[in-house]
Amino acid sequence: MSVKKTIKQKICILGLGYIGLPTASVLASSGFQVLGVDCKHTLVDTINRGLVHIHEPGLHTLVQAAVHSGNLVARFEPEPADVFLIAVPTPLRKEGDRVEVDLGNVEAAVKAVTPHLQKGNLVILESTSPPGTLEDLVAPLLEQGGLKAGSDFYAAYCPERVLPGRTMKELIENNRIIGGYDPASARKAEALYRHFVEGEIILTDARTAEMVKLAENIYRDVNVALANELSTICEKLGINAWEMIRLANLHPRVHLHQPGPGVGGHCISVDPWFVISRYPDESRMLSLARRINDERPVIVAELVVRLLEGIPDPVVTLMGVAYKGNIDDTRESPALRVLDELRGRGITCRIYDPHVLALSEETNNLAAAFSSSDCALLLADHDEFRYLYPRELGKIMRRRVVVDTRSCLERALWEEHGFTYHLLALGLERDCR
Ligand SMILES: NC(=O)c1ccc[n+]([C@@H]2O[C@H](COP(=O)([O-])OP(=O)(O)OC[C@H]3O[C@@H](n4cnc5c(N)ncnc54)[C@H](O)[C@@H]3O)[C@@H](O)[C@H]2O)c1
Repeated sequence: MSVKKTIKQKICILGLGYIGLPTASVLASSGFQVLGVDCKHTLVDTINRGLVHIHEPGLHTLVQAAVHSGNLVARFEPEPADVFLIAVPTPLRKEGDRVEVDLGNVEAAVKAVTPHLQKGNLVILESTSPPGTLEDLVAPLLEQGGLKAGSDFYAAYCPERVLPGRTMKELIENNRIIGGYDPASARKAEALYRHFVEGEIILTDARTAEMVKLAENIYRDVNVALANELSTICEKLGINAWEMIRLANLHPRVHLHQPGPGVGGHCISVDPWFVISRYPDESRMLSLARRINDERPVIVAELVVRLLEGIPDPVVTLMGVAYKGNIDDTRESPALRVLDELRGRGITCRIYDPHVLALSEETNNLAAAFSSSDCALLLADHDEFRYLYPRELGKIMRRRVVVDTRSCLERALWEEHGFTYHLLALGLERDCR
């Protein structure tokens, strides 16, 4: 294919986090000259030594190879390039009940690119953004450099949909939506992604692509809220919600999600606000879903408090504080909200999370976390937890109580070793089989 011959183009990637660094390493290993830019000094040093600051299977090997080959270099400032790709954070700003999207990082990154922009360049926004951001914010800021979007330079919004923990695989295999500032921009961006994307690439306009990304995460947030609400109703009815959902999903056109301790992460719990904050009157279902999912950590904490009633100076061991299983990411984690709730009620908490080592070195110390504990509370379904030995844990814990908020543990095994097993959203089971 002729596109493959444009190799050694220079690509400048702004933001070397969970999205930017994997993308930089994949592009560098496809033969591009990649300049990674980040404002964090320690991170730039780490990457230039061939190391990584985030845990993502396969990432370290690729970054190491890219840096050693000379195709990936990290710096603090952008330089002239053929393509600029922006993957900086787009967090929320909360003031009381007011929630707004903070596009300050996107603005700063675009302003840093503008002086280097040349005719024929392509600028890609990958940061999740409210609909209209490419047209109304990014392109006008770039045009302040004197070039015109659509005629002098190309611009596109290309949302990222990777699943943390599978990023390196999904970057390549997932289907891609590309929203162009104009059709020529979309085709230009498509040519770049074709170098490493094996999934389908679908072209549209920027505003639609921006909304597609948000709609995907809104769909998931609303469906988790539905599962959580059904599970509360099931509890009142004395029905096992997990079993009810399993049976309902046998219907060929039903796909209920799973209940749990809440929704976290950088995307699903955040992205609905990109729409709610701008269209509050039209986002009634979105707001309600957010509220239902946000209440879950309090429901979990209240369950634990009830179970520990009457125990003097109770100690709880939180198993997993990442926002979901097998990752090290604690952003917006419901587990951290459970932690706050329990501590706020005077309960001593310890953390056992073999993936999240950034909080403290102690989080990987199983004996210290479980010793003299009154309750093991599973909040993230890390694979390691399935292979724990309840017999050994029972010996060092003060009480054999386990609460499973993810339906992750093998109940019979824990009960066999004297544990009282509590599954979130489990009513009084009726065995009619
Ligand atoms: N993490 C995911 O799984 C995921 C998935 C889809 C979309 N997204 C979106 O991608 C974007 C990036 O997310 P992330 O998870 O990679 O964030 P991140 O926090 O892991 O990384 C962002 C990096 O950008 C750097 N940065 C901030 N401002 C900068 C600037 N002006 N110039 C250069 N660097 C700057 C930060 O120092 C940080 O290292 C967000 O909009 C997010 O919503 C993330």
